[in-house]
Amino acid sequence: MDKELLVAKAKEARKLSYSPYSKFAVGAAVLTKDGEVFLGANIENSAYPLCMCAERNALYNAYMHGYKKEDLVALALAADTDGPCSPCGACRQVISELFPSKAPIYMANMKGALQETNAEELLPFAFSPEDLK
Ligand code: THU
Repeated sequence: MDKELLVAKAKEARKLSYSPYSKFAVGAAVLTKDGEVFLGANIENSAYPLCMCAERNALYNAYMHGYKKEDLVALALAADTDGPCSPCGACRQVISELFPSKAPIYMANMKGALQETNAEELLPFAFSPEDLK
């Protein structure tokens, strides 16, 4: 699947956002080795700290279908930002643990911007399971 199609899936996911407080809808899509796509959107709550980001929901969705880090090959996210939408710090930490460090992450907006990065670039010196040993 090419990156534009995965970004289009992230934009589709964005339509499922529940974001009445921020009014900022985000969508994400995770592609697996066998061609499955798992979607996520941000889901907010009136108790604000409970809001969950699109990227984490997409990754958790893939894991809840039995997929693991080594099964995942690309991640896309999209929101109505000026430039490519960049994952928040909490999502970077989760991505660093649940998503392969060098696999492409496509950051997009609704106006056609598209920038590729990866987990290593997004969070150098990440805290990792190794640190718990
Ligand atoms: N949000 C995401 O879904 N992903 C990000 O990486 C940035 C922020 C959501 C959280 C909240 O629902 C809204 O965007 C505003 O911060």
